[in-house]
Amino acid sequence: MAKDGVREMHKWLRRLKMGMLAITVGTLMTGCKILITGQEVAKQAKKKDNQILIGFSMDTLREERWQKDKAIFEQKVKELGGDVKTLSANGDDNLQLSQAEQLISQGVDVLVVNPHNSKTTAAIVNKAHKEGIPVIAYDRLIMNADVDLYVTFDNVKVGELQAKAVVDHMAKESKGNMVYLGGADTDNNAKLFREGAMKVLKAEESKGKIKIVYDQYTKDWKPEEAMKNMENALTANKNNVQGVVAANDGVAGGAIQALSAQGLVGKVPVSGQDADLAACQRIAEGKQTMTVYKPIKSIASKAAELAVALAKGEKIEVKNKVHNGKINVPSVFLEPVVVTKDNLVQTVIRDGFHRMEEVYKNVPKDQWPK
Ligand code: GAL
Repeated sequence: MAKDGVREMHKWLRRLKMGMLAITVGTLMTGCKILITGQEVAKQAKKKDNQILIGFSMDTLREERWQKDKAIFEQKVKELGGDVKTLSANGDDNLQLSQAEQLISQGVDVLVVNPHNSKTTAAIVNKAHKEGIPVIAYDRLIMNADVDLYVTFDNVKVGELQAKAVVDHMAKESKGNMVYLGGADTDNNAKLFREGAMKVLKAEESKGKIKIVYDQYTKDWKPEEAMKNMENALTANKNNVQGVVAANDGVAGGAIQALSAQGLVGKVPVSGQDADLAACQRIAEGKQTMTVYKPIKSIASKAAELAVALAKGEKIEVKNKVHNGKINVPSVFLEPVVVTKDNLVQTVIRDGFHRMEEVYKNVPKDQWPK
């Protein structure tokens, strides 16, 4: 059968599968009738044509982490015998939708989506489902849609770890002014990071230990936006700021630039997330207090395994679920890890995430950890 014909047949079979109805299939060979489910039909067809194609629709490749996500995900799917087509939308909602449509029309078996906008991407799920294609939300949840599976880190915990580390590093004075610099408000994760951080910060505030003097999201996670927000926070408080909870390393970078202009780098603790190389270097130099390391290998490999399993029609069991405003989405949560000056070697360097020479590039060699 021509490749197009095979794809057409798969499309049709997937529709059956997604319909979740038992169908009656007449076999011409024997003339008898057997009852099998759509899912079984898809499974059997898959065995005949082993060509698994996974679509990966990404918001962006701007932050360092997403380049790793892409590379590891693609490699893992290939190891498992499948092919991947990845498209990145550069933070553009309309482009992400049209790229997803492109992937759907190319006959992907499963669509993995890292949404730029947690709400508008519901349209992608609906379109994929019309063609019988299951959708996995990658790292960020898609809201108000029948998402089949969600693979992520414990995002509320990320926020808690960030806030706790900054509070712990604040000078031992009884009071301190705290600035919260969040992520993009279009990203559901940014809300969860904030939720986790605020849990810790509000508790400290009610004990009279800190005061939250500034609390803003950062448009599209852009460091230059974070820098502007930090400048505003410093101006409004006449530089009287003792701690900055920044939602990721890009935001931390912007904040540190603004602190630097006021001679405050290294004096005010700043958090981050993603263990970007630049952030790990700042930690080694004492300019940033911590980052949250989320082993990209874990999430990318897990998502690849699940995508291939779904494409094969295998049954998938997961322990967690999270409500997305419409349904309880079966979810996989991975553990984030705190990284400070004290454990750079035991975490990111040991894992091969970054090399020692890169991380300590700006630190005199006699001060490198043994
Ligand atoms: C979040 C993600 C973070 C960070 C941020 C900016 O959704 O979980 O790791 O990279 O986006 O891209």
